[in-house]
Amino acid sequence: MIVTIDGPAGAGKSTVARLLAERLGYRYLDTGAMYRAVTLHLLEHGGDAEAVAASGAWQSLADDPRLRGPEVNEAVSDVAGRPEVRRALRGVQRSFLRRGDAVAEGRDIGEVVWPEAELKVWLDADPAVRAARRMQEVGSERAGDAILERDRRDAVQTVRPDGSVVIDTGPLDVAEVVDRIAALVAARSA
Ligand code: DC
Repeated sequence: MIVTIDGPAGAGKSTVARLLAERLGYRYLDTGAMYRAVTLHLLEHGGDAEAVAASGAWQSLADDPRLRGPEVNEAVSDVAGRPEVRRALRGVQRSFLRRGDAVAEGRDIGEVVWPEAELKVWLDADPAVRAARRMQEVGSERAGDAILERDRRDAVQTVRPDGSVVIDTGPLDVAEVVDRIAALVAARSA
């Protein structure tokens, strides 16, 4: 089964998707990390965004700690906004998902990358809650403004798919969100 988890920054997608994949024994696909790796490659080596995305050279940076650093945060929305970059990365994402059982996390997975997913989840939370989470993560008061700015920049790519199960993660802790989605998976595979 393919489970897609989409939603805005700070809604809790990464933690939830990773734990859910572990719980189910499914593979985990973090598509934000792919856009981040292309961006880091461009910051390091320069070059043409479309060519870098298509070449796959960015894949060597998939586990680099700088993927979540301020330089990449600042530049990634522009890179992710380029249609040719999206086309290349969506191709890689689809080859991964074609191999079956996976939890895939991003902005456009349920709507564009894998519309035939058996379960589509949309995680959301109030902007104040999302900003507070980011502030805890990065220890900076500017995180609140940064979240709103990223919402604005990423809005075009962030699409709630029809038929998705919407979960407001504001009042829930991570374990509760994972439990809920795991229950939906169990119900759909019964
Ligand atoms: O989820 P994240 O913060 O790691 O995402 C990094 C960037 O990539 C962010 O600007 C949104 C963008 N992104 C996207 O456009 N499409 C995706 N499927 C995943 C991420």
